Amino acid sequence: MEKTILLVDDEEGIRRVLGIALSDIGYQVLTAENGAEALRVFKESRPQIVLSDIKMPEMDGIELLRRIKKMSPDTEVIMITGHGDMDLAIKSVKYEATDFVTKPIHDEVLEIALNRALERIAMRRKLNEYTQNLEQLVRDKTQKLLEAERLAAVGQTVAGLSHAIKNITGGLKGGAFVLEKGIELDEKKYLMQGWEMIKGNVDKITNLSLDLLNYARDTELNFQACDPNKPAQEVIDLMVPRAHELGIDLKSDFSQNLKTCHFDSDFIYRCLLNLVTNALDAFVHEKPVARDKKVTLCTKKSRGWGVEYQVLDNGCGMSPEIRKNIFKRFFSTKGSDGTGIGLMITQKIVKEHQGVIEVESEEGVGSKFIIKIPEMPKRNDC
Ligand SMILES: Nc1ncnc2c1ncn2[C@@H]1O[C@H](COP(=O)(O)OP(=O)(O)OP(=O)(O)O)[C@@H](O)[C@H]1O
Ligand SMILES: [Mg+2]
Repeated sequence: MEKTILLVDDEEGIRRVLGIALSDIGYQVLTAENGAEALRVFKESRPQIVLSDIKMPEMDGIELLRRIKKMSPDTEVIMITGHGDMDLAIKSVKYEATDFVTKPIHDEVLEIALNRALERIAMRRKLNEYTQNLEQLVRDKTQKLLEAERLAAVGQTVAGLSHAIKNITGGLKGGAFVLEKGIELDEKKYLMQGWEMIKGNVDKITNLSLDLLNYARDTELNFQACDPNKPAQEVIDLMVPRAHELGIDLKSDFSQNLKTCHFDSDFIYRCLLNLVTNALDAFVHEKPVARDKKVTLCTKKSRGWGVEYQVLDNGCGMSPEIRKNIFKRFFSTKGSDGTGIGLMITQKIVKEHQGVIEVESEEGVGSKFIIKIPEMPKRNDC
């Protein structure tokens, strides 16, 4: 690449002599006789090196140096100083002059100063390239890592889903087998049993697909003014018969002093249904117990929130180890009866309502799930 230098001196003789010397050592030389002209040439041609007299009428070398460095900090500026210009030379160090050559200028001294400037330019270029390469490298690596993480997450989801679907199809097959036996033997007992198994698994696959659609949904929630007791009452109405069948006393305890809240009622219903279903499940694998099996769904006024929902049960409770994992995707302790996405979705919906979900539980004693929802979501987040 061609080396360009801007030579600034008010003395014509110096410009000429130095100009020849610089051309001889391979520079393309631009000249200016004062600071203003030098700035104009600099802006136009952007030479890599500027060689300027320190003392000039009007704009002196220091002011020129300051302005050039402000415009282009990487330009190398070498100052030509005379004897007795020490104060000026010191001042120019402050503005980052690259070097000094003293008048009368010896060719070798000038060449050394110029070579040093060229080395600095080359080094800076290398450093720039290196930094750019490094940035590119970091970008590539990050991209690859993200992609790998995404693929791993997709893999996990597919594995979890396959497991859930396998469980349900297993249940359906089992139901079909019992049903066939019932037809073959003309036994109403088997027919009923098989039919119940099939019905249960059809419910499960319906719920699974609903939950997955919910999770993958990218539509916005439909926030509307609602009575917070309404979705809770709907869950009670749906679940009381099932609880009854299981010998569980499902009760409601609703506050009548709640203000209207703005939320998506269908989704809040889904959350409460998940919590109540889990609470009923908490008795399924329990050995027969002396105490009454109780589940309560409460609504309360809570300071700073529109409504607080609580689902309490005195079922099996959770160990600290289980408690740690319950919001994770596909975490379930229910074997083929659970898919492990109920709480994950509940948590997602609560977050989308800018609410919180809390859990207290003791193994063998029971659990309490709390959901707090604001009266009105903040505008930009919903
Ligand atoms: N009230 C509760 N009492 C005891 N354990 C609970 C309770 N609620 C949740 N859990 C534990 O948390 C786990 C995860 O619950 P989650 O609702 O996410 O999945 P699941 O109920 O197993 O399956 P599904 O996706 O069908 O709801 C449960 O398997 C259970 O171990
Ligand atoms: Mg569940």
